[in-house]
Parts: sequence; C-alpha cells; structure tokens
Amino acid sequence: MAGGARLIGTPVNRVDGRRKVTGAAQYSAEVMVPNMAHAVLVGSTVPSGRLVGIETTVAEHAPGVVLVLTHRNRGPLGPLPMGFQDPVGGGTVAESRPPLADTCMSYCGQYVAMVVAETLEQARHAASLVRVEYAPASFAVVMEDAPGPAYRPGQTFGQDLQVRRGDPEAALASAEVRLDVTYRTPSEHACAMEPHAAVAWWSGDALTVHDATQWVLGDRAVLASAFGLPPERVRVLAPFVGGMFGSKAETGAHVILTALAAKRLGRPVKTVLTRQQVLTNVGHRTETEQRFELGARRDGRLVAMRHHARTHTAMDDEFIEPVNFTSRMLYACPNYETTHELLRVNAVKPTSVRAPGETPATFALESAIDELACALGMDPIDLRRRNDPEAHPHTGKPFSSKHLLACYERGAARFGWARRTLAPGSMRDGDTLVGWGVATATYPALVMGATVRVRLERENSGVRATVLTAGSDAGTGMYTMLAMTAAEDLGLPIERITVELGDSDLPRCAVAGGSNLTASTAPAAAAACADIRRQLLDLASALPDALPLARGGVDDYLFADARISHPAAPSRAIGYADLLAGSGRPRLEAEAGTTPIFGQNDRYAFQSFGAHFVEVRITPDIGRTRVSRVVSVFDVGRVLNAKAARSQFIGGIVFGIGQALLEELVYDRVHGYPVNADLAGYLVPVHADVPDIEVSWIDEPDLNFNSVGCRGLGEIGITGVAAAIANAVYHATGVRVRDLPITPEKLLR
Ligand code: MOS
Repeated sequence: MAGGARLIGTPVNRVDGRRKVTGAAQYSAEVMVPNMAHAVLVGSTVPSGRLVGIETTVAEHAPGVVLVLTHRNRGPLGPLPMGFQDPVGGGTVAESRPPLADTCMSYCGQYVAMVVAETLEQARHAASLVRVEYAPASFAVVMEDAPGPAYRPGQTFGQDLQVRRGDPEAALASAEVRLDVTYRTPSEHACAMEPHAAVAWWSGDALTVHDATQWVLGDRAVLASAFGLPPERVRVLAPFVGGMFGSKAETGAHVILTALAAKRLGRPVKTVLTRQQVLTNVGHRTETEQRFELGARRDGRLVAMRHHARTHTAMDDEFIEPVNFTSRMLYACPNYETTHELLRVNAVKPTSVRAPGETPATFALESAIDELACALGMDPIDLRRRNDPEAHPHTGKPFSSKHLLACYERGAARFGWARRTLAPGSMRDGDTLVGWGVATATYPALVMGATVRVRLERENSGVRATVLTAGSDAGTGMYTMLAMTAAEDLGLPIERITVELGDSDLPRCAVAGGSNLTASTAPAAAAACADIRRQLLDLASALPDALPLARGGVDDYLFADARISHPAAPSRAIGYADLLAGSGRPRLEAEAGTTPIFGQNDRYAFQSFGAHFVEVRITPDIGRTRVSRVVSVFDVGRVLNAKAARSQFIGGIVFGIGQALLEELVYDRVHGYPVNADLAGYLVPVHADVPDIEVSWIDEPDLNFNSVGCRGLGEIGITGVAAAIANAVYHATGVRVRDLPITPEKLLR
C-alpha cells in the first residue's frame, strides 16, 4: 500500500506559490527572447460592412516598423480546425474566418492589420497611423435588435437542445399552481487577470509558441494545420496561465498572426492584446433570455416545466450557451419541454465562460423555483426537497453519488436558516432591509482524458519523482494536486516531487476546461504511481532475502519515506535510492491514462451539486445591495487539496456576486462598440464587495466515477450564486429582479 504522508484531503500550499509571488513564474506576455519584435493589432471601427480602403504606407515608414500585415499581403494559410471534436488533441480556432482573410467586417474590433516593429511603443505608434476606410452596413449588437430569423440548433456538446418528455402542455393546463416568467442575463466577459498573449519563433521549419492557453495541444493542432506542419514540428508552451475561465481554450487569431509574422520576418514576435482587445476580440458569454413556465400541485410537486431559451451567436459562427442542460435534470418533473433558439448579432463569436450554460441557467431556474415557493407560500428548501430526483430525470440513470439534500441540511444549520421569516421585507436591521435566499449549484462531472507519466530517479542521496503531462495549470492548482497525488502514492515527501505541465511535447492531456482536468489526471497519476511501486518491488524481490515474501502482492508492502517495507518486518526496509543504484537503472518510468466520460456512462449520471445560502443588506433609499454573508456547501466527490478547493469555491462565488450585481458588457447600439471594454467600466467585484464566505463540502468520494473518487470543482462555485442573491433581494424588498445585473435603479422603480 502507499503509505506516504497523508496529504490528500488536507490543505496544501501551492508548490508553485513561491515562483508566482517572486515573479519567477513566467507568463506568456513576460517571455523575452533575443531579437524579438513586437506586434500591435488594429481593429475594425465598424460592426458591419466592408473595408474599402486601407492605407499602410505611413505606418510602414514609421520608425522601427518591420512589417505591416493586412488582407492584401497576408498570404495563404492552411485550413483552421473549428469545434471541440477531440478535447485532447483536436484544437479549435476561436472564429472560423481566418485572420485578415478578406474585407468583410462582422464586428467592431475584428482585426484588419498587424503592425510589427522593433519596440512595442513603435508598433503602437505605427498602428495608430494605419488609415482604414469602411462602407458600413446595418447591424445589430444586442439580441433585442437582431433582425433574425431566430433558428433552432440541434445539438451542442453532444446533447440535444430541443427536448420533450411527457405532455407538458396538458400538465400545465391542469396544474393547480402556474408560473410564467422570463429572465434575462447580459453579455458577460471572463476578464481573466492575464491578458491574452503569444510569443512565436521559428527554427527552420519548426515553430515554438509561448501562449496564454488552457490547451497547448489545441494550439498545436491549429498551428500545425495553419502552417502545413506535422504536429511534432510545433511546440506550444504554457507553463503558467493567469486565469482563463474558458476564454483561452480556442486559439485566437492573434496567435496565428504572431506565428505568421515571425515566419515572415525570420525572428521572434510577441503580441499582447490590450485589455480593450481582450474584451472586444475574445469571446464572452452570450446574452440569454429564458422563459420558464412551471406547473405544480398545491403540495409543491412539480407537474410541468417548459423552458424556452434564446441566446445570441456571431454572424459567421455558432456558439451555443447550453442553458437548458440544467432544467432537464435538476428536478423530478414528468412533463417537460425545452427549446433553444439562436439569433445572430455583430459581435465577436461568444465562448465558454466559467460554467457555460449552468451559470445563466441556474440564475433563471433557481429564481423560478423560488418564485414558485413564494406562490405556494412554502419554504424554498422544502420545495426543492419535494422535487429532488435520485436518478437523472431525462436518462433515468441513477446519480453515481448525490448529496444535495445533505448540502442543504448542513448549509441551513450553519447559516441559521430556521430563523428566517417567510414574508418579503420582514427581516430588517434598523433602516437596512435584510434578505435571505438559497439556490442550488450544479455542474456535470467530466473526464476528457489524459496520459500522465511518472519518473523516479536518484537525486543526491535520495530520489526525485517527476510527474509529466501536457495540460495547463491555469491557476487552478494542477501542479500542487499532482504533486500531492504522487507524494502520497509513492511514499515520498512533497518536496521530492517535480511536476511539469503546459508543454505540448509532454504526454497528451485534454483542455483545461469543463472542470475535467483533476478527474482526467489524478486517476492516471495514481495508476502510474502504482506501476512505479510494482517496479520498485520487482527490483526489491530480485535481491536475495531482502524483504519477507509477499502473499497478496504489491499491496502487502508499505511504501513510505522513500522505502519499501513489509508490516511483518518493518526494520528490513529498503530505500528506493538503493534499489535504483543496485539495479544499475538510471530511472523507473510509468505511464497511465484515462478515457473520456461526458457526464454519464452506461450505468450512472455523474453530476456535482451544492447549496448556496446568501444574506443581502439593502439600503432602500439608494437601492444599494451588499452581499453580507454567504454559506455554501458542495457535493463534488473527494476533495484532493482542501486549500485549493476552498479557494476555487470562493473564487466561483465571487464571480457569481459579479454576475448578480455588477457585470454587463454594454454594447452601444448606435455605434456597435462595447462601451465599457476595460476594467474601469466592466465592473467586477473588488474586496469591498466580497463578504465573509464560508464554504465546506460533503466529503464523499465518488468511486463510481473514478478510482480516486474526485469529480472536479473549478466551475460549480459560480452556479446558483446569482439566483441565491436575487432570491435574497426579493426576500429583503419584495422586488423580483429578473434581469441581471441587479443594479440600484432596478430596486428603485
Ligand atoms: Mo471552462 S468555461 O469549461 O474553461
């Protein structure tokens, strides 16, 4: 058995923490290579129409300028793969239109030129000298203005979008209590702290790119195809990524153009998007409009649910925010229908943003359930208890491990829910209105697949283990999680583990998205470590009389403190270093992998859950809402690093506070440009907006999901938060806000 330090489930500091706080961890924008030139991109100032003239001569003659790329001189590019067909090695561009392809403009910010110069300042100055003339055309940048027609897509991420069961119309018509409400959420941007940035250089026909990406293999596939190279001639590096939340999964046009400019110039080129470009040219979460019709019995049992969703997509590309995956599974409801319509607008192609689908879906659904509870005069937790399914209502498969009601029980006790009075406006603190709300969090459990290699070799008088896989640590804690796993499973101190990530030359690993990477890599790392233990025992067994004979095999031995021993004779331990030295082998190596699971297998539905309890305090005269207390309890299988998990949950909840109260990418409907495309205008929560947040988890390993029992937890934290806040706002004020964000004027109507 592995008898290493008991680390799993405890709070462990980031193994990369020192490198990050000292600046030694290098992010893409910080990469410096000799003879590097700097690129600045020029974007369209019209949201629609044609580029009819572009004057670059002045820019070309500006000091330091070495190249100006436009559609006229961009030259050929190979095909660009589009779509998440293979989440390990597939790769997808952010937009199907190749960069600088033609004169057709479909959103403000769309790149029309790249200016490359000796210095960033020279490139920025020269970029300002590029003159572009447009023949603008009519446009719509928000869903409400979209001329349509709306259309109904069939599937996204392998699931149907137009779904029915039972007879929802008849059940609704005969329901004792009915509700028909529509919710809206605006465009929201991930706003990761690190801007998108790439540095590229060529050595002969081999391309190396440092990119801020959550998917080095995806980048590699796109670049190999764009430049007609075998994938092994492309190396993509992303050892550190400063946040992504979905915005760094698809390969952006700037990455391709950076590699193209480097090739043309025969020298390294760096491109760093400005914050404004991050907001205009990197996809955001779509607007959503969700109508819920609910029918229930007086006792609270749901009899009918209809969920009609509309989201927007780009003029040339389709992205579907999967808002109706949640409503089909969260409640037992025999009669159900969902539809999903898309409308095209002149904005950058939308993309995944933390818990794509579930985030806006849980706002609408969990608000609607609260409204139903109010209509029934029932406690909202009671209503959820009455409709809680043990099996996935649509597929009929039992959930592999579900503890949602336990989350509610524990959360209610910690929060003091029993002291809540039912009537809106009934809880006050002097002039301040106080409201308490709850909502369910949920996110599917996914594995997209990874191969993990573990290597054990001598170092000084001891040994060192190295864990290698291509996946990126986007700030989520992958380095630490894999170091903990290897330390525990090999019986080594964590200081003796090195983890190498974010390099396309390493063993294949899926995109760091969909909260899948822990469940994809931890079981693979554990299996590779088990293989190393077996190899160590083989070496030990070759030594005469070294260890008592195993009866049951490798699991009879103890692997701890870098030694193998047998419980029957603990004093006869053999050190790994001695075994390696005696064997004459420089190292032991093992690889293991995981295969994809997309939320279900043939036996189970795999889904994580949680319950948020929120207190808001509202100053009625000015309509100001403060979130004053949050208690959240999660059911995510086994938690590996308690410290990182707590931090991820809190980060998700903070993101949810932003969604509820602050965030909206506002498009100017006259000019077509997002007017708040920077961090001064696009509001996100700051410390003063974030109260004491208490998170905990039901620590039940999901061993039906994988050998480690972990389901991944990067995204679930945000889901349900906005509904819990909106429900608390209603409880405080009696005002039901159905369109986010909940700004003061909506409470002063
Ligand atoms: Mo995440 S939005 O699946 O990268």
